[in-house]
Amino acid sequence: MSEETSALHESPGERLAARVERRWAAVAVLILLLFVVVAAFAGIHQATMPQARVETINPTRLHLGGEFVETNLGSAVEPDGSVTVRAVGQQYSFTPECMIVPTDTPINFRASTPDVIHGFLIQGTNVNAMLVPGYVSTISVRFDEPGDHLMPCQEFCGVGHEGMWAKVRVIDKADFMNMAETKPRLTCVE
Ligand code: CUA
Repeated sequence: MSEETSALHESPGERLAARVERRWAAVAVLILLLFVVVAAFAGIHQATMPQARVETINPTRLHLGGEFVETNLGSAVEPDGSVTVRAVGQQYSFTPECMIVPTDTPINFRASTPDVIHGFLIQGTNVNAMLVPGYVSTISVRFDEPGDHLMPCQEFCGVGHEGMWAKVRVIDKADFMNMAETKPRLTCVE
């Protein structure tokens, strides 16, 4: 039976059903096209707009002077009461390898790397960033509970990648502030 003769034998109900079905198929295709347009716009928009702020640093001179010299690493209390933690990730360790922060305080991590890309991930939080040579990564976070968080490097950085990790220790705010009175830079490295 050809299509034409079969169409002749369709009941009005069947014709209506076919029309509705075609309409919904068209709607489905339109929705898919809308998704494609949205995804394309988001991708192109992000690729063409520079990030809101980018901080660069000379990776070859990181340890020689400036913000990321070893004596300046660790946690520091800022005049506004927030805490800045400066850290460096390099093949295959973080410095400091144990970072200490208080509870209920805005914490700003500032970190960079002199060699290759490393991961900066704090387990149990949504902190998950990359350390890229030539750039300063800044991550803001707040901890409600005291406790230890592991910080495994989550970007493959070479043969020692598996063994590259640090720790973030969250302690009671009052204890932290007491410690900070005697030392300008705090770590929990024993
Ligand atoms: Cu550093 Cu993987």
